[in-house]
Parts: sequence; C-alpha cells; structure tokens
Amino acid sequence: MPADNSEQIAEWNGALGERWVAMRQEIDRLVVPFGNAALEAAAAQPGERAIDIGCGCGDTAIEIARMVGAAGAVLGIDVSQPMLAVARSRGALANCAHLTFRDGDASEAALPSNTDLLFSRFGVMFFSQPTAAFSHLRKSLRAGGRCVFVCWRTPRDNPWAMTPLSAARAAMGITPAPADPDAPGPFAFADEQRLRAILSGAGFGDVDVQRFDAAIALGGTPRSAAESVVQVGPVSRLVREVGAEHLPIILDAVEGALAPLAAPDGRVSLNGSTWIASATNPA
Ligand SMILES: C[S@@+](CC[C@H](N)C(=O)[O-])C[C@H]1O[C@@H](n2cnc3c(N)ncnc32)[C@H](O)[C@@H]1O
Repeated sequence: MPADNSEQIAEWNGALGERWVAMRQEIDRLVVPFGNAALEAAAAQPGERAIDIGCGCGDTAIEIARMVGAAGAVLGIDVSQPMLAVARSRGALANCAHLTFRDGDASEAALPSNTDLLFSRFGVMFFSQPTAAFSHLRKSLRAGGRCVFVCWRTPRDNPWAMTPLSAARAAMGITPAPADPDAPGPFAFADEQRLRAILSGAGFGDVDVQRFDAAIALGGTPRSAAESVVQVGPVSRLVREVGAEHLPIILDAVEGALAPLAAPDGRVSLNGSTWIASATNPA
C-alpha cells in the first residue's frame, strides 16, 4: 500500500502550519535546547552535504548551513507551504547560497544522493509508514553517512505539554478517547524499542538512542505561562477545537494547574523529554 501522508500534509498547510508561522519565535525558544543537542550529536563538518527533514521555518537548516559552510550544501525539505515561505525568506536573509528549500513529502520525494547527513528537529514523526520512509531517506546517504534527529518521548515524560493539557481538558469536561500511541504525530516515536526497530528495519546500522531532557521555560508567572501555552502546543489545538469563547475558562484552569509548580520567583519551567536518535547507512 503506498504511503498516505495526506492528512498530515493538510494539517501542516492549514491552521497548524499558520500557527507555527505566527508563533515561530516563541516555538523556537521552547525547542532550541533539544535542537542544539541534536545538532551537537550530528556534528556537521565543513564541506558536508546535509538534508533537514521537515525543516519547517528553516531554523536548523540555517544553522547547519553555517556549520557546513559555503563548500557544503544543505537542502531543507518540508510539506508545509506557509512554513517553507518563511524558511526561504530567512535563508535569503542569512545569505546562504548553498542552502535551498524544497516542497516535498520526504518519505517519497527524490533526494540528492551521496548525502553525508540526514538531520531533523521534530520533523520525522509524521510518516504513515515510517520504516518505508526511513528506508527511502537512507538511500540518499552515502555509505557511512549518518542520520541524526530529535523526537519526543512519551506524553507522560513531557509535563510541559501534558500538565496544561490535562487542566484544559478537565475544565472543558473532555475525556480523551483512547488513541493509538504509534499514530503519526509528535509522540509517534516515544517507544524506544519501536524507534530502534524502525531504523533497523529501514536498513540503518549503529542505531543509538539517547535520552535528552531539558527544562522548558513556559513563562515568568503562572498567568503568562498559561497565556503562552494556549497559543503554542497541544492546548492551542484544544482551544481551536472547543472554540475561542472558552479561552477564559481554559486560561484560569491552566494557570491554576501551573501555580503550584512555579518557582519561588514565579517562573514556570516544566520538563521536556526527548530521544536523540542516530544511525548510519552501512551500504
Ligand atoms: C513539529 S514541526 C518541526 C519543524 C522544524 N523542524 C522545527 O524544529 O522548527 C514538523 C515539521 O514536519 C513537517 N512534515 C510533516 N510531515 C512531513 C513529510 N511527510 N515530509 C516533509 N516534512 C513533513 C511539517 O510540515 C513541519 O514543518
């Protein structure tokens, strides 16, 4: 059966992609520690050719372009037109002639061969057929080329996302329907054994999966943290679903849940937990 990523492609070209564009700087601030950990593991070298999968608004692609320098080349690939438009204008501003962006489904798009590095910050968990997708991606790597990405661990391990979401759901009287934990989405690679099996099944060798946690600063006070999470992340999706007229109730509920977790100075930082996965192409 051919891969069908049409649902995700529609989401990233609809309200979800628009929200990422509108909140780009705020989102980047939240995810930068995780991206930096993955960039460090990737260790892109001057002259290397890299692909940033699900590059979004281009932050890490630009960073890798700086690492590989003008003698290297970076391709950012993504399915989201609004996010690619931002990436292209930022790439032009960064004056990186060796950085290009392409619209395409990374699980099947034609990709440059002899690539040294496949990289992604939270952009590879959305494939309907992940093993086939990674097998396709692996074929763009030279022998010995590496794949390095960061993805979220379980919702339970990510209170920055789940504490506010649980409070918002409770305020709305919503009991979430049981969901398939492996379904395409942010937490699809949470299960370490599944993640390893996908990479091995796709033909990668030297599969390594390391836990990386960091505190995510949500706001300077419980109220400002609540105001931030209703705009970014899973609570913002819930607000879209239930309607903005419920925003005041949700804000109060989230603030109430975050207040006991605030530091003495009022700041709210909650844990974010990820896997940094790396693997090499043996052939
Ligand atoms: C969570 S965002 C991360 C964006 C970016 N890497 C960052 O860290 O800011 C996930 C990205 O993956 C992209 N994406 C989802 N499915 C894709 C696919 N099949 N091929 C290419 N990109 C995809 C989305 O459009 C989105 O830009």
